[in-house]
Amino acid sequence: MLRTHTCGELTINDLNKEVTLTGWVQKSRDLGGMTFVDMRDRYGITQLTFNSDDDAELRAKARELGREFVIRVTGKVIERSNKNLKMNTGEVEIKVAKLELLNAAKLPPFLIEDETDGGDDLRLKYRYLDLRRNPVRNNLVLRHKMAQEVRKYLDGLDFIEVETPVLIKSTPEGARDFVVPSRMNPGEFYALPQSPQTFKQLLMVSGFDRYFQIVKCFRDEDLRADRQPEFTQIDCEMAFIEQEDILNVFEGLIRQLFKNVKGVDLAEVPRMQYADAMRLYGSDKPDTRFDMQFVELNAIVKGFDFPVFDSAELVIGIKAKACAEYTRKQIDELTDFIKRPQIGATGLIYLRHGADGSLKSSVDKFYNEDELKKWSAAFNTEPGDLILIMAGQTDKVRKQLSELRLEMGNRLGLRDKNVYAPLWVLDFPLLEWDEDSQRFHAMHHPFTSPKPEDIAMLDTNPGEVRANAYDMVVNGTEIGGGSIRIHDRELQSLMFKHLGFSVEEAQKQFGFLLDAFEYGAPPHGGIAFGFDRLVSIFAGLDSIRDVIAFPKNNSGRDVMIDSPSTIADEQLKELKISTTL
Ligand code: AMO
Repeated sequence: MLRTHTCGELTINDLNKEVTLTGWVQKSRDLGGMTFVDMRDRYGITQLTFNSDDDAELRAKARELGREFVIRVTGKVIERSNKNLKMNTGEVEIKVAKLELLNAAKLPPFLIEDETDGGDDLRLKYRYLDLRRNPVRNNLVLRHKMAQEVRKYLDGLDFIEVETPVLIKSTPEGARDFVVPSRMNPGEFYALPQSPQTFKQLLMVSGFDRYFQIVKCFRDEDLRADRQPEFTQIDCEMAFIEQEDILNVFEGLIRQLFKNVKGVDLAEVPRMQYADAMRLYGSDKPDTRFDMQFVELNAIVKGFDFPVFDSAELVIGIKAKACAEYTRKQIDELTDFIKRPQIGATGLIYLRHGADGSLKSSVDKFYNEDELKKWSAAFNTEPGDLILIMAGQTDKVRKQLSELRLEMGNRLGLRDKNVYAPLWVLDFPLLEWDEDSQRFHAMHHPFTSPKPEDIAMLDTNPGEVRANAYDMVVNGTEIGGGSIRIHDRELQSLMFKHLGFSVEEAQKQFGFLLDAFEYGAPPHGGIAFGFDRLVSIFAGLDSIRDVIAFPKNNSGRDVMIDSPSTIADEQLKELKISTTL
């Protein structure tokens, strides 16, 4: 080893020891005849001192050191006169006797400090420098700890970690695939897995019984704060289980993570039906850190010649506690918020329950006080409360009000990052209508089993069929999802038929799975957690980018290695790919 200690470990108990440390120059300063250098490594910062009176030449050498130079020093641990009790090493310093420059460094393009002056793009371009900063490195340390904890928990329950292939087959379901041309099979392509779904099911057919994998998945979809084109799942599958078993085992995983990594004791995870989540929160991933549930008003607001309400399929609202004093400007801001194209609502109606007990709405022309009293009763308002109401087509207006609810949650400080509200959302619909392709798609994936009692509706009312599918949501983020699978060839074929596959197409795409189901497939099911999302919630971050060592930017580019990039004509030729579109 080039060192005897790290920069984070020497304390007052080590006084007078002769030590050798290595690391980077964080900063240095001159004070009279002394030079002080803060030397940093992964473990911390230790102060070095160089005194002209002891060794003028050595001190002169120290004065030459620039930020981020890599050095090695030998010296004695002495007590600091000016102590910094916030740091582990803050009571001591090293009186340096020997200084070696291991490598000089160019001035970094941004400050390598907790608060940096570097913008996002610059930090991504020099990600290896960004990773030297404590907050970014700490996120990766947290990620590491969580991964270890996951392995410990699952190993303890006899789960076996199995690697599944990364070069697989493109399928038409789900998001877009990333594809990889095959040189040995000209004109043919592999796809990178969107998840190991079919492989983990095959492992159940193979009798593995309990599988997991912390695994990279790839999806060519539009990026958002909680989406990266390559991301990591904690992917799990179990055989001979029912939904209740999966919920229990994986609630246990999440609780152990919270307990052992964050020191948080989670209460039992509440459960909510998908239909209730949509009705009460307008979202299949409600943020249940705060209440503000939707109240439906159709029964009391229709029939008063107010066209907006009369023509709407659904009139719903939320109660913002103690917001009756909102100014015109604040209400206008909320109206502008919901009218943004991303949300697309047409307007907002309000009712103020004044501190003096008065009821004042933005539609007084249509509703007299007796009617407004009914509104107030529906929301159970108290003086000082504000009701915000929207109207429109059911699915749309629920989604819009859900955005407003989250915005109000932010404004009212109800979304504290240190409060954790996990939730199971159960009984998702099996199918979802897609306007573009004018057909039903699997809401989760085609391998999810319908609830047996709903199978009969597949022909008559496919949109109403519920699935044995569940998501885990924490603070409004979907952190995991899974289902009980179909393990029967006939039912799986029926599903493919309902998804618009011909028998031949189904056989071509998924014949391997259908065939496997004929060789003794056990009942099975599973779940996959979005590991990046889980870590970002533990780290209190809004984006998953900073829990990934080398993430892509918003355009899906790695700006550090400059990828994607063109490839040489030679390579294209070898792959038999034409260069002209
Ligand atoms: P699903 O598609 O719901 O299920 O994915 C599981 C979890 O992965 C996370 N996730 C993502 N995280 C970051 N970036 C992305 N682009 C991204 N896409 C998804 C989410 C999500 O809950 N095979 C099934 C699981 C199963 O049925 O067992 C699957 O992949 O947190």
